[in-house]
Amino acid sequence: MNQYTIQTAKYEHLALAEEICRHMEESAKARGTGIAKRSPDYIKKKMLEGKAVVATDKQGNFVGFCYIESWGHGKFVANSGLIVHPDHRKSGIAKDIKKEIFKLTRSKYPESKIFGITTSLAVMKINSALGYEPVPFSELTDDDDFWKGCSSCVNYDVLTRTNRKMCICTGMLYDPAEAEKKERESKWNFNVKTKVYERWLRLKESVLSKFRNKNGNGNSNGGGNAEESKLVPMPEIKKPVEREKILVYSAIIAAIAALIKSIFE
Ligand SMILES: CC(C)(COP(=O)(O)OP(=O)(O)OC[C@H]1O[C@@H](n2cnc3c(N)ncnc32)[C@H](O)[C@@H]1OP(=O)(O)O)[C@@H](O)C(=O)NCCC(=O)NCCS
Repeated sequence: MNQYTIQTAKYEHLALAEEICRHMEESAKARGTGIAKRSPDYIKKKMLEGKAVVATDKQGNFVGFCYIESWGHGKFVANSGLIVHPDHRKSGIAKDIKKEIFKLTRSKYPESKIFGITTSLAVMKINSALGYEPVPFSELTDDDDFWKGCSSCVNYDVLTRTNRKMCICTGMLYDPAEAEKKERESKWNFNVKTKVYERWLRLKESVLSKFRNKNGNGNSNGGGNAEESKLVPMPEIKKPVEREKILVYSAIIAAIAALIKSIFE
């Protein structure tokens, strides 16, 4: 049973802001990076705007957090400040928080590209599962305010030296237009493949039922009805020439089946 509640933060969660900030700061220190410093007031503002997701235990204690920021006049959004309480890590909470904040972000900013920069393998895994792809920094927002947030990072000199082209972090992006295109293409492929498969089934049924009919069973409805032809028992084949024909047709059917199988794989 799930011991945690993951939800869009509400008024009642404002009291957790101080603790959330403290954990963010401590984890940045532990990782040896420096992150854009968030004040409790900023966290509270995000909560009140309905742009934050919080995880709490049964007693209402802090378990995890993440919030939405928008950049470049809403063209880009980021799910920032992901943090899970050290006592609750590696049990899928970050994954669930990110799923929830992703859903919230898509509903609030359906046209926006969602991005993030991270050195965390856990975050890279979670983002990939949500449909993000690694991209060069040139694909991310050019909003100066976003990049200013990196100034407290120990690696900031790398970012400035490369004119913001690259750094230690990996840039990841979810582009809704691209995702929609991919989904359309996969549906199209499924439709095309389904039609090929249906045609193949009809052809197979028609060949088999012709044999059945020729061998005296008399059910000559054109041979295309799969259900009926399934019901007709295979008659005993007496003439050797019929057997040869069956072997030839079977070989053809097997070859076509192999071809169809390779299309579906
Ligand atoms: C990064 C962090 C949010 C992950 O939280 P979590 O709840 O432990 O993550 P989950 O349990 O949901 O794990 C998600 C995936 O990452 C993997 N993972 C978790 N911690 C990991 C680690 N330290 N190293 C490598 N992989 C890790 C999990 O195995 C899981 O992979 P799977 O989908 O293949 O099973 C948490 O460690 C944390 O708060 N760290 C400090 C703050 C931070 O680094 N934030 C990210 C800033 S970009």
